[in-house]
Order: sequence, then structure tokens, then C-alpha cells
Amino acid sequence: MDKIVINGGKPLHGNVQISGAKNAALPVLASALLTAGTNTFHNIPDLMDIKTIKNLLISMGAAIEGEETIKISVDKIINPTASYDLVKTMRASILVLGPLVARAGTARVSLPGGCAIGARPVNLHLKALEDMGAHVELNNGYIEARAKKLKGAEIYFDLTTVTGTENIMMAATLAQGTTILNNAAREPEVVNLADVLKSMGAKITGAGTDVITIEGVTSLKPAEAEIIPDRIEAGTFMIAAGMTGGEINVLGCNAHHLDALINKLRDTGMKIAPMKNGLKVSAGKKINSVDVKTLPYPGFATDLQAQIMAYMAIGSGLSVISETVFENRFMHVSELLRMGADIVIQGGNAIVRGVPKLHGAQTMATDLRASASLVLAGLAAEGTTEISRVYHIDRGYQTIEKKFSALGADIKRVK
Ligand code: EPZ
Repeated sequence: MDKIVINGGKPLHGNVQISGAKNAALPVLASALLTAGTNTFHNIPDLMDIKTIKNLLISMGAAIEGEETIKISVDKIINPTASYDLVKTMRASILVLGPLVARAGTARVSLPGGCAIGARPVNLHLKALEDMGAHVELNNGYIEARAKKLKGAEIYFDLTTVTGTENIMMAATLAQGTTILNNAAREPEVVNLADVLKSMGAKITGAGTDVITIEGVTSLKPAEAEIIPDRIEAGTFMIAAGMTGGEINVLGCNAHHLDALINKLRDTGMKIAPMKNGLKVSAGKKINSVDVKTLPYPGFATDLQAQIMAYMAIGSGLSVISETVFENRFMHVSELLRMGADIVIQGGNAIVRGVPKLHGAQTMATDLRASASLVLAGLAAEGTTEISRVYHIDRGYQTIEKKFSALGADIKRVK
């Protein structure tokens, strides 16, 4: 089991190149199930989750070649099943459900278990498919869905769901008639997927707003498309610059996807200036403590909550961080406390009193973004920090220790 070892206290300087977005690449790869012929997707990140979904798609009949540029074709779906042992390692496997029902008329997908950050139900995905005429049953932990031909429907999501919006948008592309998604997710990853589907011939309007309209077509054709840069990876590095008193160039990111974070970081005293192909990010003289509330896009991203909490742990005052998207996304708090942070949880709020310094400690990663916050805390802390269960980090960050050491951090991965 690998672990990451960091000797903290070094300001970060230099350039970091942002990779393609994990949460855009996953639904885009799943969309290949909707059409025969060879799709070409560029800027795919090199992550464990990408390997997982590639294996899943191959087991269904996909032919795949390439890494950063992937050619994928699904001329025939031979096995419309996503097994438990695959789905349990990656909940996003649920994204094959909509495309399978739309293209093959049938799907058997393991119910994704919960994970560290919450129960993560998929009830809204299933209800929407039923609204579109699918017959959905839950048997022995599996979702079994069938539909000779999905029908367009008016869908109301009780709450904003990113993969729910993506799943049903994909299913609706081949439905009979028009589907309207109300209270749809507005994330940039949803827009990236909609652009790919449109280049396959889908008729979609409203992506990026909370009402998306999809007019079903009889078939789609393969497409060539680019995955957007990962705004969560970019945000993680921006916060690291603020925490270590450094100045870095975050290259290849899309600043428009980071408005909420940029405004927040400026309030903490950081300077963030647009540059030719990215952002110049500099730490402030001191760290002003600010309040943060996570919300669906364009609000502050829940996937950056753990990271900004590590930053506020060394703020100059008091910060209230409210997590409104997931019910249990404070797993990083206990580990930060072991590094000397002063945080009290009250329901969905974390009260963070800034301390002058964090101290290195042995810590354990629990989920993807919590482990990223431990890396940030280790980079800023005095002394040595060890982070075990590093596989959580590898799911969502491409060679994180290499990118940070290129910025001057004393960080390495040990067996
Ligand atoms: C996506 O997860 C992302 N994953 C998550 O990123 C991200 O944290 C999340 O959106 C919120 O932005 C991918 O895109 C692969 P939701 P998703 O459905 O779609 C509840 C990471 O770190 N809900 O938007 O699973 C749910 O419990 C990951 O990269 C239902 O109740 O999140 C949660 O409280 C972590 N019923 C809220 O909605 C449903 O049917 C938002 O979940 C679906 C969701």
C-alpha cells in the first residue's frame, strides 16, 4: 500500500499543467455506448477511475485504444451488465445505465453502495427512467431496467443531481419524442457532455441552465471531442499556493469554471490574475478567514470544500464552512485535528478557528477530496506528514506528487 510523505513549509513556485476533468471524461466515455462506430476523445486524464470505466465498457463490448486520446467504438453491446465488484470501486459506473437502456433496451447495473461522504442514493435516476417508460426493478442489489423504446417525458428532479442529469440526458437522446429536464445540474461537465452528444447528432438545448430539452433521434453517429480541464484539480493547486505562501501559474484551466473559488480566494487576500493560458495565483500577505457554503454549480463546489477547510485551518480568524450537498463530507476534519487544526462540527457546519501553524502527522485518506486536503495541509505544516491509503488520491489526481514536487514541494510516494 503506497503512502505519500511530505516535509512541509516550502512555498510553491512555477507552472502546473491541469489535466482533463475526471467528472467530464467519465460521462463522455459512457456516451460511446449510444452509438456504433469509432469515437475519438482528447485530453482524457490518466486516473484510476478512467481505467475502471474503460474496463467496464470493454466488458460490455467496447473496443478501446489509446490513453490521453482515446478511440472507442461500441458496434454492439454484448453484455449490458455492470457488476458489483466493478461498481463498488467506482459509483460513477451508474452512468452506463441511461445509455444501456437507450441503446440496448436493457441494463443490469449494480446499485452503487454508499461511500465515505454519504448514502449516495440513485433514486432520482431510476424515477426519471420510469417516467420515460422504463420498467425498473431492484433485485439482489442490482438495478434491472428494460424499455423497448424510451419515451420523451417532462422530468422534475427533486434536487440537483449531476450524474442524474447526465444519465437521463444521455437516455433521452434516443427516446421517442421530447424530454425536458427541470432542475437540471448546470455543471461545466454537463455542458461538455451535451456538446459531445450534439456532435453525435443529438438535439439538445439549455445545457448549462436548469432546464434542458432533448428531442429524441433514431440514432447517433460517432464523434470527435475534447474533455474540458479539471476545475477541481485547478482549484486544489490554487489553494495550495495560498496555503504555502507561494506564487504559481495554473496552466490549461478554464477560469470561467472557477468564478466562485476565485472570488473566495481573493477575499482571503490572494491575488489571482488571468494570463495567456491560465491563471497566475499568488498568496496574500496574511490569510483572511472567510465563510464558505457549498452549493450546486455555479455555487462553491462541494469537491473543493475539504481543500478550502485545510486553508482556513491556518486562517487569521474564524471561518464557518457549510456543506449543503452531501450529508457526511467532513471525514477530513478528524485528520486535520490530528495536525493541530481547531475545528468543531455542528450539523452541516464546520467552525474553523485558524491556528498559526499545522504540525506534520501520520494521517489516513478516506475519500478522494479529503485526501487532497491532507496533502495541502502537509505542504503547509511544520514537519513531516504521512498519508496512507493513497489509492483514494489516485482516483482523481494524475500524479499529484509529481506535479507538487515540480512546484518545489518536498513530497514523495513510498511503497
Ligand atoms: C457528482 O456526483 C460528482 N461525481 C461528485 O464528485 C460531486 O461531488 C457531485 O456530483 C456534486 O457536485 C461525478 O460527476 C462522477 P449528485 P453525483 O447526484 O452525481 C443526492 C468527486 O470527488 N442524490 O449531484 O453522485 C446525493 O445523495 C466526486 O469527484 C439523491 O438523493 O452527485 C447528494 O446529496 C465526489 N438521489 C446530492 O443529491 C439521487 O438519485 C448531490 O448528488 C441522486 C443524488
